[in-house]
Amino acid sequence: MSDLKKIKDEFLSKLQKKLDLSEINKIKSDLFGKNGLISSEFKKIGSIAEPEKKKFASDLNIIKDELQEAINLKLNQIEISEINQKLEKEKVDVTLPERTFIRGKIHPVSQTIDEISSIFSEIGFSVEEGPDVENEHNNFTALNTPDNHPARDMHDTFYLDKNKKKLLRTHTSPVQIRTMSKNKPPFKIIAPGRTYRSDSDQTHAPMFHQVEGLHIDKNINMGHLKGCLNYFIKEFFEIEKIKMRFRPSHFPFTEPSAEVDIGYEIKDGKIIIGEGNKWLEILGCGMVHPNVLKNVKVDPKNYQGYAFGIGIDRLAMLKYGINDLRSFFECDYRWLNHFGFDPLDVPTNYRGLSR
Ligand code: PHE
Repeated sequence: MSDLKKIKDEFLSKLQKKLDLSEINKIKSDLFGKNGLISSEFKKIGSIAEPEKKKFASDLNIIKDELQEAINLKLNQIEISEINQKLEKEKVDVTLPERTFIRGKIHPVSQTIDEISSIFSEIGFSVEEGPDVENEHNNFTALNTPDNHPARDMHDTFYLDKNKKKLLRTHTSPVQIRTMSKNKPPFKIIAPGRTYRSDSDQTHAPMFHQVEGLHIDKNINMGHLKGCLNYFIKEFFEIEKIKMRFRPSHFPFTEPSAEVDIGYEIKDGKIIIGEGNKWLEILGCGMVHPNVLKNVKVDPKNYQGYAFGIGIDRLAMLKYGINDLRSFFECDYRWLNHFGFDPLDVPTNYRGLSR
């Protein structure tokens, strides 16, 4: 009996102290665990002779209940204090004024891609996509640029494996191959997207954006190409009159090939498109090479057409007066806030593209 009293006094006084959950759990197992003090006392009952047995059992039960109750009380206190702490932390003052609502902005490159897609869809182009990670066949070989062709070196390619089979596409032209190999002509598509070359300065970034154009049908000629680009530039810059010139160039996948410059001038520090006598290169183009058509099983005797590749970032810089290409990709929130567009203002040709 004195043993029981000792246990009771010792543990009740322990339970008076400030305890945390793990300390309480320890007390619980010290008393009621498999080899706990109280559990061991219960095991003794069987070996005690009457009449002590009855009294011992009754005393033990009373002490067990007392200790149990003290533990429960302690657990209860902890629970309540935890709830109170939480409430204290999560206090909301509903009388405070609302926080300024910060709205996201559309990046000028995304806006420009939307504008370009809208302009070309007006004249029957649909939008295609291709992956950033390409194989060398689609990026080069099928585009009439075989192994060891010098044009491969011009591209500063990021190869992804030792055998130079996988790469980050250096232009959007592989989408021409993807589109033509899975469908039948005619084709009239644009393909905007990211492209990669190992190159970086004020006007070059290792990742940049292009939009590919491809129109293949019966009797398509260079006049159609010129008309299409003329329409596009006018719509994109929202001007009536443009100056455009075709310079002979070379791409393995087009013959003849040309680069297109647009005329501009700088007035009061602002760039004005369509006037003046300065020229700015904005795209490469040409009539699709018969070898490219053969590579995708299109008969060049029946079908011909043109292709072009426009640098999107350059167009965005010109239209929105941004003078360092690298700022596009710096993720500076203040810059985005200044040059970005309202997400609800989707560009359409009817409503005006950029207003
Ligand atoms: N792919 C070429 C480049 O990146 C551009 C281009 C596309 C030229 C289509 C002609 C036809 O430089």
